[in-house]
Amino acid sequence: MKNFDIYEFKKNLKTKYIGKELIYFNKIDSTNDEALRIAKEKVANGTIILAETQTSGRGRGSKKWLSPYGGLWFSIILKPKINPSKISIITLLSGLSVAETIKEILNLDVKIKWPNDVLINNYKVAGIICESEILKNKIKKLVIGIGINLNIDKEDLEGLDIRATSCKIRLGNEVNREEFLAHFLQKFENYYSKMMVFSELEYILNKIRKIIIPIGSNIEIKTESEKLSGYAFDLANDGSLLIRINNQIRALTSSNIEYIRIKK
Ligand code: BTN
Repeated sequence: MKNFDIYEFKKNLKTKYIGKELIYFNKIDSTNDEALRIAKEKVANGTIILAETQTSGRGRGSKKWLSPYGGLWFSIILKPKINPSKISIITLLSGLSVAETIKEILNLDVKIKWPNDVLINNYKVAGIICESEILKNKIKKLVIGIGINLNIDKEDLEGLDIRATSCKIRLGNEVNREEFLAHFLQKFENYYSKMMVFSELEYILNKIRKIIIPIGSNIEIKTESEKLSGYAFDLANDGSLLIRINNQIRALTSSNIEYIRIKK
């Protein structure tokens, strides 16, 4: 398998600052762990840590994230001067950027599953984990970890306890990872700069609303503390999921969700 070509990536990259610094590893424990380790140092806002493979890739809720060669496993270090309550929006706009990149470059139909999964035909193709350190209501470190099953073979996904797929499986051919990442980062930078402006945030949320699951469905949700059943009807402006339970409205934040099941 061809290694990630930094020169080709830089040729494709049209961003102002996201991805201008790229730290590359052949093998690492987790790009998120490395990003969190170095975020304190003098690293530029928008630095990317990318690895061909991870030995301890992490998903949400202390799940393992399988990271064989061929995927895109990377983390973005951000230094935003925003209220920590906006972090959920960054997770969502990362999902939107992954979904639109898959649609635009590969012409595959994609959905976002609130809050952090990207699905093709109900099979997970990418996941996002946002990790931060907050002190006195200020974000000290923010790391967005993104895992995209690009050129992953079917055998590599066997044994997983979730329904997963890859772009290669769906397309029948390999994807240019350098072009894909450059395209994604441009989208991400654009949405990320727009989210600070209220009217633009509404525009981004409306794009997400069009492709997000489970809005419009009856669902069962398990949080750390309770199991709920209700009807998911919208996204709130802070990225929480609005559900109706016996005529009462609850706003669920993504932080403590264990699973969401759609009821038939
Ligand atoms: C999830 O769906 O649970 C989130 C998966 C996030 C995986 C990525 S791969 C790059 C980065 N490094 C990690 O250890 N995790 C994230």
